[in-house]
Amino acid sequence: MKTIIEPFRIKSVEPIRMTTRPERRAMLEAAHFNLFGLHSDDVLIDLLTDSGTSAMSARQWAAIMQGDESYAGSPSFARFEAAVRNLAPFKHIIPTHQGRAAEAILFHLLGGPGRKIPSNTHFDTTRGNIEASGAEAVDLVIAEGRDPAADHPFKGNMDIAALAAFLEANADAVPCVMLTVTNNAGGGQPVSLANIEAVADLAHRYGKPFIIDGCRFAENAWFIKCRELGQAARPVIDIVRSMFARADGMTMSAKKDAFANIGGWLALNDDALAASARVRLIQTEGFPTYGGLAGRDLDAIAQGLSEIVDEDYLAYRIRTNAYIGERLTALGVPIVRPTGGHAVFVDARGWLSHVPPLHYPGQALACALYEIGGVRSCEIGTVMFGRARDGAEHPAAMDLVRLAMPRRVYTQSHADYVVETFEEIAAVKDDLRGLRITWEPPMMRHFTAKFEPLPA
Ligand code: F0G
Repeated sequence: MKTIIEPFRIKSVEPIRMTTRPERRAMLEAAHFNLFGLHSDDVLIDLLTDSGTSAMSARQWAAIMQGDESYAGSPSFARFEAAVRNLAPFKHIIPTHQGRAAEAILFHLLGGPGRKIPSNTHFDTTRGNIEASGAEAVDLVIAEGRDPAADHPFKGNMDIAALAAFLEANADAVPCVMLTVTNNAGGGQPVSLANIEAVADLAHRYGKPFIIDGCRFAENAWFIKCRELGQAARPVIDIVRSMFARADGMTMSAKKDAFANIGGWLALNDDALAASARVRLIQTEGFPTYGGLAGRDLDAIAQGLSEIVDEDYLAYRIRTNAYIGERLTALGVPIVRPTGGHAVFVDARGWLSHVPPLHYPGQALACALYEIGGVRSCEIGTVMFGRARDGAEHPAAMDLVRLAMPRRVYTQSHADYVVETFEEIAAVKDDLRGLRITWEPPMMRHFTAKFEPLPA
């Protein structure tokens, strides 16, 4: 088969400032070995996140010029609303400035002490908004979804038996059932259409609204097309519509599968809930026809939504991570298998087995990737999750490093360069040392903690 090429050509470029390894070592030291502390123009290849980092198309930039900045009733909102409904035909589409704002509004209304909200795996901000309301976030992903080495086509699936038992035991405490597609926190793994429908049925049997966190809905639909029996012949746009058909609402970050640099929405079918959500929106985001966004952002999202379901794009998108994953596997670097939609997750604890979890093998690997190759990644492990609420520190379930691929930004030679950086690290990996934390804030320490390398 021929190489799956980038299905676009490049009209506008941003220079990458080349740096040397000694310069990067100095910048790493100045940032206290926390990659969030780097200036992004000191990074060669930035794989920190796929969120808000997409390259917009010429048509999106053109759409931006059509943005109408009226406070109320802007035609940009009408275009945005129509574009969302074309894929996810919910009755009420409520724009927000990003995904977590939609979550904050939803759980302001549905959360509260004593409530429990099940999902396959809640993303951190979803969990954070649920917990901030006093409610409990419960993760019920299938067992394979917790095992990095397990090969399963839909590792993001909800454990249906566990959800049934949970609803039976806690029905009165559950205000809604959620499902994250793809399952970011579990490695960007997809959820099958059969599983989405089974979750919807179960939620409805107990009279609960079913809400999809749809951040990476198009990548999820592509996996359904490629992997689920009976779906191969269906256009992705139809699969997307089927994914949302049985849901009662969705939260969305347009910074992912809408190719926008900012934006999101909350969609609901329930009139009363939507009316309360709009009241909260006016208090915290803005009037319901802009919701914390400029009219031009709404137009960029509307256009992005027509591009994200392009199958040539999705084939290239999913192939990029599969390609990096295959090459890393060939090098002997353990990764979460199979590769997910938006990122490759490297099992740093497995690869740097001489670095104990409380010496942060993920952070050690992420620092080496930057120092040796100028590649910025993100530790998802004991630094992020290791500090318990009671102040004790424990190893996280896994120590992963996420290489998240911005959409339409990097080419295959950038991907090759990332793999070559791993090749260079492989030769010295047994000499890599862990780190210790010299300062950390009371919460969410991974963003601002300061580190120091442990002596050899
Ligand atoms: N849900 C999921 C599954 C996400 O991945 C994110 C963001 C959000 C909700 C929140 O959306 O950032 O627009 O407020 N994930 C980013 C990431 C930050 O790097 O994975 P937001």
